[in-house]
Amino acid sequence: MNSKLSLLLPALLLVAAQAQAADDATVAKGEYLSRAGDCIACHTVKGGQPFAGGLPIESPFGTIYSTNITPSKTAGIGNYTLEQFDDAVRHGERADGSNLYPAMPYPDYSVLSDADVKALYAYFMQGVKAVDKKAPETDLSFPFNQRWGLGMWDLVFGHDDSFEAHSENPFINRGAYLVQGLGHCGSCHSPRGVAYQEKAYDDTDDEFLTGGKVGIWEAPSLRAGSGTGPLVSWDKAEIVDYLANGRNDRTAVGGEMTSVIEHSLSYLTKSDLEAIADYLKSLPGEGQAIMLSVDATEKTATELNSAKVDINSGARMYLDNCGACHFTHGEGAPRVFPQLDGNSLINAKDPSGLIHVILAGARLPSTKGAPEALAMPAFGWRLNDDEVAKLATFVRQAWNNHASVVTAKQVADVRATISAAELNATKPTLN
Ligand code: HEC
Ligand code: HEC
Ligand code: HEC
Repeated sequence: MNSKLSLLLPALLLVAAQAQAADDATVAKGEYLSRAGDCIACHTVKGGQPFAGGLPIESPFGTIYSTNITPSKTAGIGNYTLEQFDDAVRHGERADGSNLYPAMPYPDYSVLSDADVKALYAYFMQGVKAVDKKAPETDLSFPFNQRWGLGMWDLVFGHDDSFEAHSENPFINRGAYLVQGLGHCGSCHSPRGVAYQEKAYDDTDDEFLTGGKVGIWEAPSLRAGSGTGPLVSWDKAEIVDYLANGRNDRTAVGGEMTSVIEHSLSYLTKSDLEAIADYLKSLPGEGQAIMLSVDATEKTATELNSAKVDINSGARMYLDNCGACHFTHGEGAPRVFPQLDGNSLINAKDPSGLIHVILAGARLPSTKGAPEALAMPAFGWRLNDDEVAKLATFVRQAWNNHASVVTAKQVADVRATISAAELNATKPTLN
């Protein structure tokens, strides 16, 4: 062999190996970022192939199907260049130049850095398995089938800005970047305006993260600094615990947030979750802190423990059906049974989420840090609408809770949205 070449060969191999290694690291980084962005949640149907799309997403425009974003050249985004991928993810533009529906949270993703978009692209091209099956086409009625109209939407209501750091503290800025961008927390936790747009995209606006709605679920305010708000009394460790495991000593996750924790946040590093908590702690809550009245808790407990509790009352039903796990004072048991006293879901303006939990039960996600998936049984098969209304009214007004009365009609409306299988999930079968 040519002696010069034999000298050169190891060096060439080394260069090639290094290029490969750098690539693997970028792909791995992209995979982590895809977790932070929870791409899998919307782009995968239950039990389906990862990222093959087809999940129906309800929006005010109608039902929108998520697309196949695997690297398939026939059914997915395998032919997308980095630039075309970027246009979709940060700017809401498809390869054919038409607009995406904002059911894809590109207005939030617009703050992503160039490097992060590159890493995501590397992951979707090299780290994801191609699935050659087309997702169903979104087929809306006029005028919402006119994608050009979405361009107008984008101009007026959209958001397309790069990230701006507002703090001296790099951890807070990292948290802000994750919350505003990949985490797209605001898409659920910020109020929406007349055209479905998020009313605020960052902390320069006081409405940012002050709470929003996802279907029947209320997504509470995440502003955890001074003032009022459900998170104001949580310390940093409690926020991190909740984001990592879906539970902490105060509460347990329910509704749409369960999937966010299971598929996205539970995969993030401790340091990133701490950065998110630092950022939420830096956002002032609203108004004055409400003083919790110890008297109210005592009064409800005495009432419940007295022999005079009416057999048909909400209090009685609570004792019979719920007290075994959540206890007389609604105090629950740390990390196992959520505390009902002061709970955000129970005190939500709209009681639909609470009604849903009582009728269909709930399941805590299983995460690395808290693998046991605890379940709340369904009571829909056992209690009728009137009984659930009384029971829900009781828990909304017991202890320190001060929420409005629930009617049987509200219960019937939520019941109509739940399948018989779910309602009967924990019904004992007699055989
Ligand atoms: C909240 C739901 C949701 C999340 C989260 C989400 N997407 Fe999407 N995405 C959609 C929907 C819905 C569409 C299709 C919109 C349409 O047809 O106009 C879409 C479209 C796309 C497209 C365009 C595909 C095409 O055919 O041109 C790409 C690329 C994409 N998403 C990538 C991502 C990536 C990468 C992530 C994570 C960082 C992500 N999406 C997270 C809902 C979501
Ligand atoms: C798909 C919608 C959705 C997204 C995206 C989302 N959340 Fe949530 N989140 C909810 C809902 C709904 C609840 C209420 C859950 C309940 O009542 O148990 C919630 C509850 C929470 C809570 C507990 C509040 C309380 O008072 O109990 C925290 C903390 C939280 N979310 C943080 C976040 C962060 C941080 C992000 C972004 C990284 C995020 N969420 C993204 C829907 C969402
Ligand atoms: C066998 C034990 C058990 C019984 C009985 C029970 N629960 Fe639960 N409950 C749980 C568990 C475990 C969770 C956590 C599951 C989750 O939130 O995903 C929970 C969650 C909840 C939540 C959601 C809290 C949140 O922050 O999201 C509410 C509200 C609730 N229960 C109310 C009730 C009411 C009202 C009753 C009586 C009709 C009841 N529970 C009976 C175990 C129980």
